[in-house]
Amino acid sequence: MNALENQVAIITGAGSGIGAATAIRFADEDGAVVLVGRTREQLDRVAQRIGRPDRVAIVPGDVTQPSTAEGAVRAADERWSRLDVLVSNAATFNPVAFPDKSANEWREMLDTILMGAFRFAREACRLMIAKKIPGRIVNVTSIHGTQAEAAASSYGAAKAAVNQFTRCLAVELAQYGIRANAVAPGFVDTPMSVVDGVNELDTPRFQELYVKHRRIPMARAARPEEIASVILFLASEASSYVNGHVLVVDGGLTCTF
Ligand SMILES: NC(=O)c1ccc[n+]([C@@H]2O[C@H](COP(=O)([O-])OP(=O)(O)OC[C@H]3O[C@@H](n4cnc5c(N)ncnc54)[C@H](O)[C@@H]3O)[C@@H](O)[C@H]2O)c1
Repeated sequence: MNALENQVAIITGAGSGIGAATAIRFADEDGAVVLVGRTREQLDRVAQRIGRPDRVAIVPGDVTQPSTAEGAVRAADERWSRLDVLVSNAATFNPVAFPDKSANEWREMLDTILMGAFRFAREACRLMIAKKIPGRIVNVTSIHGTQAEAAASSYGAAKAAVNQFTRCLAVELAQYGIRANAVAPGFVDTPMSVVDGVNELDTPRFQELYVKHRRIPMARAARPEEIASVILFLASEASSYVNGHVLVVDGGLTCTF
């Protein structure tokens, strides 16, 4: 039996990178997936790669809008009458040095990352509880949630908040049989690595510090599929006693100093 047979998952930010890899991996494990993201064309392309229209629903929308979370949960309920897994993955990264960061930039970051995770978790667990489904919530955070880097204050603060939100969910939802965990990636080769048209992974700084001098002991960034397989672990029965955990997936980066 495949890990997600007869199961239904919502994945936010599913149009690219880790979200797209997760959707494809979940479908490979026989799960049905509700793809959420801002750009319908991107979601359509991921659906085409999955190639199983009977297992895919598309919900274009912004996670800052409460109607997007409501619509995604409704889509799962109307189409398959259940929801087993939520992967809150949508985020943006916009490096701006402090104190130049505006209050609006902070609000937008928190609205997408923290409030987005809140909106989806609330709608998802309402349906899971009503249907008595032992669901799983997986929030994709970042090593920025524990490690500090210049120009990333709003992103780091938002990711740290989601780590703690995840632990709170784990404590509160265990009585319903629902587990909540987070995955905290290090560097991953996705569109998010491209800032102002430059792929951070191709810069001399990254190659010198993280690869040549092995600040990442594995001397490379992750492929999105390597994060997706860890999300699958936390979304499946294989992790049945893991709850409230933030699983760092960084090739050993945060072990060094
Ligand atoms: N790439 C990395 O190095 C890295 C490292 C650590 C953590 N992460 C985290 O992994 C997750 C996935 O990022 P990725 O690396 O795949 O990058 P990505 O840019 O490919 O994926 C993010 C997706 O979220 C979507 N999105 C952004 N804001 C949204 C909004 N308001 N509403 C709906 N969709 C929205 C984007 O359109 C995009 O498809 C993010 O939570 C990110 O913070 C990435």
